[in-house]
Amino acid sequence: MNSRSLAVVLAAGQGTRMRSALPKVMHPVGGLPMIAHVLKAVDAAGIGRTALVIGTGATWPGDVAGKASLHVQDHPRGTAHAVLSAKDAFADDIEAVVVLFGDNPLVAAATIDRVLARVHGGADIAVLAFETETPTGYGRVLLDDNGHVAAIREEKDASADERAVTLCNSGIMAIRAGEPLDALAAIDSDNAKGEFYLTDLVAIGHARGYNIVWEMADFEEVMGVNDRAQLALAEAAFQRRARQKALETATLLAPDTVYFSHDTVIGTDVLIEQNVVFGPGVAVDDGAIIRAFCHIEGAVISPGATVGPFARLRPGTAIGPKARIGNFVEVKNAVLGPEAKVNHLSYVGDANIGASANLGAGTITCNYDGKTKFRTEIGDGAFIGSNSALVAPVAIGDRAYIGTGSVITDDVPADALAIARGRQVNKPDRSPARPAAATDTMEGATHDEADPGAPSDAGVRDTRA
Ligand code: UD1
Ligand code: CA
Repeated sequence: MNSRSLAVVLAAGQGTRMRSALPKVMHPVGGLPMIAHVLKAVDAAGIGRTALVIGTGATWPGDVAGKASLHVQDHPRGTAHAVLSAKDAFADDIEAVVVLFGDNPLVAAATIDRVLARVHGGADIAVLAFETETPTGYGRVLLDDNGHVAAIREEKDASADERAVTLCNSGIMAIRAGEPLDALAAIDSDNAKGEFYLTDLVAIGHARGYNIVWEMADFEEVMGVNDRAQLALAEAAFQRRARQKALETATLLAPDTVYFSHDTVIGTDVLIEQNVVFGPGVAVDDGAIIRAFCHIEGAVISPGATVGPFARLRPGTAIGPKARIGNFVEVKNAVLGPEAKVNHLSYVGDANIGASANLGAGTITCNYDGKTKFRTEIGDGAFIGSNSALVAPVAIGDRAYIGTGSVITDDVPADALAIARGRQVNKPDRSPARPAAATDTMEGATHDEADPGAPSDAGVRDTRA
């Protein structure tokens, strides 16, 4: 039935309370713009058509709207005015319209479905409400003696008694097509803000004898984000949910210190230690271990791999099965084969690392000449000695061995040993640390005569300087 419903998503408000150059609904929660969360939930609910109402002047990245039709509200004159701005999308075959706000990022598909189901089940209007001990700022849901919704009163228009009501309007409302939807035209702007409130539809409908019902939602799921403090609350709520989901299949040693993105995928029997941040685009496959203090984004981690502690994986990274990334290693745009090892203090950027290759401590792929990035290819079973610099573009063959401290500028064939560093020179008796010889000290001067106040070894230090 949702296929014959229309979702109208409102995102044209000025969002002044956010105090930002970015449109309010573009602020991310879990790394995804709030508006994209809402559109995703609408899609997941199987709603046939979506109309997105945007303001003028705001620059929108093209891909955010997805399949939704775009409707411009010239001036933000209130939520009812915004819904009517999408009138072109009200087609004859639509049975119900569900209105959602772009600043409700955590709303779930099942909840949207629940509200719409009431209208498909016979109600004229269904309001999604929630309870909170701190209702300030929200519209209050006022019930009649039968428990039906009689009105929604905005904070600024509410009496002291009405303000004491803790049942609040989430903003999500389903409206039956036909008369109830047409009643939107009857809303005026005779209120404290001089706006056309969508919420006034309820009182109008109640006076006309409509069947107006309500559904209860969880505060965390439907709280509105108007300012940055509420944005932080929404982020915290998102993280709590993401941790619960991860805990279904993975062990988190300290869940409250692990941060997920909207699209993080965590497999079965994954272990995640303390203080780990997952940016967008990460998949951690079964049995992988993420040790403490890692920052990971745009990376795929294969089964049984170990990452960290203190590793940074950047976009374009693929860590092969049972591969190991150790402490203070940064990997960017690089593919590591099965059982490859980069255990200490390395930068691996724009590289392919073969199966079971071993990169010693301090290996650096020098991928950038100031203008262009180049790739480093390392073959299966290759061994890179510690503190080697691999100057890309360069290829190290299978099983090749690079001597410690080499600066490799030319390709190394398979099975070859390459050493590229200054040869060691030993100079007998030239160490400054050798025991002092008599001829090194100042002739005739004792320490006391040279400087009576100095510590007894001061003269010796002076002559050696
Ligand atoms: C609104 C509700 C309030 C509810 C609260 C829940 C109204 C009048 N008030 O208040 O009952 O408790 O949400 O979070 O509906 N928008 C437009 N065009 C406009 C005005 C707003 O597109 O002209 C959009 C905004 O971008 C936003 C949404 O509508 O996504 C809600 O507007 P906002 O100003 O945040 O309403 P609240 O004051 O939070
Ligand atoms: Ca709001």
